Amino acid sequence: LEVLILAGGLSHEREVSVRSGRRVAEALRSAGASATVHDLDTSLLDFLHTARPDVVWPLLHGSTGEDGAIRDLLALAGVPYVGTDSAGARITWSKPVAASMMRRAGARTPESATLPQSLFREVGARAVLGRVVSRLPLPLVVKPAMGGSALGVTVVTDPEHLPQAMVHCFSYGETALIERAVEGTELAVSVVDNGAGPRALPAVEIVTDGPYDYDARYNAGRTEYFAPARLSAEQARAAAELAVLAHQTLGLQHLSRTDMIVDPDGLPWFLEANVAPGMTETSLFPQAVRAAEDSIDRLYLELAYA
Ligand code: DAL
Ligand code: MG
Repeated sequence: LEVLILAGGLSHEREVSVRSGRRVAEALRSAGASATVHDLDTSLLDFLHTARPDVVWPLLHGSTGEDGAIRDLLALAGVPYVGTDSAGARITWSKPVAASMMRRAGARTPESATLPQSLFREVGARAVLGRVVSRLPLPLVVKPAMGGSALGVTVVTDPEHLPQAMVHCFSYGETALIERAVEGTELAVSVVDNGAGPRALPAVEIVTDGPYDYDARYNAGRTEYFAPARLSAEQARAAAELAVLAHQTLGLQHLSRTDMIVDPDGLPWFLEANVAPGMTETSLFPQAVRAAEDSIDRLYLELAYA
């Protein structure tokens, strides 16, 4: 089996993608497949034409990779690929759209506001933020509506810090999502589907002494993980159900990861889903596979065949 892994690209998460691509290539080779990593550039269509891989694995994080564009291109080129199609990717890439669909499907999602940068220009920052603060209780999480790896994200406990958080957020994207920060335990639940239907892997619990930011995600030792998470059987079941609900509701395929908070009452709140979850040494998806006592090499190979 010839697998062409697309990694790198020009998104803010380029470095993470390169690391994910390398790990998946190693695992596929250990499982006996041939795996090549190709850095995404404009020669992709020509390259596909000459390389003629059996399957492409888009391990591109962030824009282009997760917004559906590259999947549309692969579909046009008639090349099979691992993971969610462009329709599911487009829905999932936009956190407010995904949250809205999940709310309609019965999931708990935090109260939120979606603010395009243009509104600040038209109405003025003071009026816009005044409205947000009167509607949403502090603390708030300010994040780019589309993005990943916590880039551009700030937790705001003092309304005085909101303008600065907005500026930081808008340096990564045109639209901000401001959510009530749900108190509780942060979990990531990965789902795999090799053709037999979606199966949730054990939840991974994230414990940090500060925000779970870019540095805490990708530098080993900064974050403590519990895999499986320290949950009651009932909480674990509810978390797994929410991840499978997200996988089905958002039209995800083969693999996904849903990020959530379990509140002090043990109830899970949907935050977002990821069509291209990180696969680096410190990432959550591979930890979940290990916690399930599945072989990473074999699972990745199965996904490449799925
Ligand atoms: N966006 C990063 C890669 C993740 O979700 O793991
Ligand atoms: Mg994400």
